[in-house]
Amino acid sequence: MKDLLGLRGLDAHEIENILTTAVEMKKILVNNVKKTNHLSNKSVATLFYENSTRTRTSFEIAAKFMGAVLSSIPVAQSSVRKGETLIDTGKTLDALATDVIVIRHEVSGAPHFLAKNVKASVINGGDGMNEHPTQALLDMFTVAEEKGSLKGLKVAIIGDVKHSRVARSNLWGMSKLGAEITLCAPGTLMPKDIGLAVKNLKIEKNADEAVRGADVVMGLRLQLERMTSGLIPSVGEYNEFYGLSEKRLKGADKDVMVLHPGPINRGVEIDGDVADAKNSFIERQVTNGVAVRMAVLFLLTRS
Ligand code: CP
Repeated sequence: MKDLLGLRGLDAHEIENILTTAVEMKKILVNNVKKTNHLSNKSVATLFYENSTRTRTSFEIAAKFMGAVLSSIPVAQSSVRKGETLIDTGKTLDALATDVIVIRHEVSGAPHFLAKNVKASVINGGDGMNEHPTQALLDMFTVAEEKGSLKGLKVAIIGDVKHSRVARSNLWGMSKLGAEITLCAPGTLMPKDIGLAVKNLKIEKNADEAVRGADVVMGLRLQLERMTSGLIPSVGEYNEFYGLSEKRLKGADKDVMVLHPGPINRGVEIDGDVADAKNSFIERQVTNGVAVRMAVLFLLTRS
């Protein structure tokens, strides 16, 4: 595999291979080892056209821990602002002997377009409303670490499904590993064609029903910046009907895991006490993101 562009195109075996490799990478992190030679003689560039804290930082930490040469391209101060195209930027990185480009872009499909036009491996760090494969991989890793496996687990993904690349990648990835997914959103935030090709998928408008008996509940950020018109009556009403609250989560399994990809909006899609509760895995997700991204960087540069 040259690139990692999404989970839709991967099979269960390929996903499991990444997760198994991430288990080994996590052992390195647990032992507080911050220098290995897995990526010695490799160079990694991060090219983020959209804001990021978690994804960008954890890729950069992963690359540095494994001994790569890292270039963190400040898009706002780069020649992109002088009109340089995505392909020309990619070819420039090729000419600088870059082995891996991690890209985040507001346009769905931009990483795929870049991958076809550069020699470097391309990793999708989130493209528009399409996919965010490493986020879903770290979500799956976190669930498997706690529950042993995803097979047969009931996973409720609740919130702004329409704009969520995290929801799409998790839908593809978790369903391939045997989880039963329920997607829950108000009608205006649920795409009609989502998951047509996914087995064991439920679409639910009522969040209390979606949560009932769930082993895993994932909240999604309300992406107001991607909304072109009023898709919800008010943030307060959204919180009442779709927010993750202690009361709502009482309907879930007693050992329910609460996940959120971050950044979180407290009091909007998740209440502060839920985000900070013992069964919230939000910080563990961030930590596991480094192990998963180490695994992806290692696997793509092995040949
Ligand atoms: N989950 C996620 O993609 O977070 P960032 O936008 O901070 O990278």
